[in-house]
Amino acid sequence: MVARETIVILDFGSQYSQLIARRVREAAVYCELVPYHTPAEEVMHLQPRGFILSGGPASVYAPDAPHLPDYVLQSGRPVLGICYGMQLLAYHLGGRVDPAPQREYGLARIELTDVDNPLFADARALAGDTLAVWMSHGDRITQLPPGFEVLARSANSPIAAMGDLQRHRYGLQFHPEVVHTPQGMQIIRAFLYDICGCAGGWTPGNFIEEAVQSIRARVGAGQVLCALSGGVDSAVTATLVHRAVGGRLTCIFVNTGLLRQGEPEEVVATFRDHLGMRLIAVDASAQFLADLQGVTDPEVKRQRIGARFIRVFEAEAARLGGVDFLAQGTLYPDVIESTAPDRAVAAKIKTHHNVGGLPPDMRFQLIEPLRYLFKDEVRRVGEALGLPRQLVWRHPFPGPGLAVRILGEVTRERLETLRHADAIFIEELWASGWYERTAQAFAVLLPVQTVGVMGDARTYASVVALRAVTTEDFMTADWARLPEELLARVSNRIVNEVKGVNRVVYDISSKPPATVEWE
Ligand code: XMP
Repeated sequence: MVARETIVILDFGSQYSQLIARRVREAAVYCELVPYHTPAEEVMHLQPRGFILSGGPASVYAPDAPHLPDYVLQSGRPVLGICYGMQLLAYHLGGRVDPAPQREYGLARIELTDVDNPLFADARALAGDTLAVWMSHGDRITQLPPGFEVLARSANSPIAAMGDLQRHRYGLQFHPEVVHTPQGMQIIRAFLYDICGCAGGWTPGNFIEEAVQSIRARVGAGQVLCALSGGVDSAVTATLVHRAVGGRLTCIFVNTGLLRQGEPEEVVATFRDHLGMRLIAVDASAQFLADLQGVTDPEVKRQRIGARFIRVFEAEAARLGGVDFLAQGTLYPDVIESTAPDRAVAAKIKTHHNVGGLPPDMRFQLIEPLRYLFKDEVRRVGEALGLPRQLVWRHPFPGPGLAVRILGEVTRERLETLRHADAIFIEELWASGWYERTAQAFAVLLPVQTVGVMGDARTYASVVALRAVTTEDFMTADWARLPEELLARVSNRIVNEVKGVNRVVYDISSKPPATVEWE
């Protein structure tokens, strides 16, 4: 997706690189995050309006340190270096970088020393000459490169921000992209609008128009297939394709029998009845359940479900015949993660995202309209497309579904129990306004029986665990501090309304060391 004003962010491996990209998009400017070693032609093909250099874990003098590619400075376009990116600017332009006497990590205050520069103008108008910022660095700049002046200093960094106002090159020792830098967004916006001269206008509405046109041009008279999962990504993908090619899109929805309460009915009601799409709904729950009989190992569950999904999908696609394209809801973070430099790629703890994944040898051409979007942008596009709110804001749901939330063997009866308990939890979250304040929330059925008492009788029944987390990216997560009354109400309802459950517990572990799911 080119030919629009684009900011290029060169990724030097900071944990915050994606966050920079999200902030730029939030400021309504299109950007792409690319590894620092991306070939020059590929980057310049995007016709960047300006460059942002991310932070990174290296030190510029280290033997294997990643360096600033020549084309960035040669392009003459504005540059904003953040943390390591600033040190790269200093190093390559003739300044000096040294280890700081002590590593600086956390909140700091900077004092603006040059009141007349465009980068800090809006931040200063809001907050005055002293700004709170988030620092995280070991090296610092001890000598400015020629042409630069100091824009801000902190107790530990005599050069906390620098700028060459003539050549539109700026460096920040702190991180404007994190929420702990309250005026960060003003600084980023100033760079985009006042220094790079962007006009903005990257909005869901524009995206929809462009995406629909480009899908239409690509598909021509071809036929498109799309697998709906019930989640927002595939829903938005299908809706865009449907707008572009109408009846030449066929959606397949596989009911695995492992979905949440009411979900299969809702998918049919939304896509077939409400949006008028051609939808093939396949009830394969009996096959999935048969595959899972006697299985308790979570990885075996995932493999069996993944394999069955592919078989069912392939059979339907073959029956249809004549399909040229497959539309998939791949998002930008997946694209970025697959190319990210140096960032310690998280150990593959679970075989994620393999369910609903289709075999690589399928002969379709791929259409991935969301390939350059972040999740929050997909949701805004979903809203702009008029999709139901409950669908647009739905929490992520794992491909293997309830199978990995039923610890131990998956049976029809245990599925019913979990579905019912989960529905009560979700209903109460929506009713109390907490659904949107958590990133993911669900019930888990444990493989233990505990003693309880009901009336005068002793019971020996199942335990349900409630899980609710807050997170930005699911790599780390914290347990949600749900109000006591809400937890009490949910617990009370589950024990009273769900047959076979006599105890409810709330999971108060963060990730790491726990994970979001229990399997
Ligand atoms: P964990 O449990 O690894 O979960 O902290 C992080 C996010 O990934 C989701 N998840 C899965 N998604 N297939 C998926 O499509 C899976 O096998 C799977 N396992 C976990 C999880 O729901 C959370 O959003």
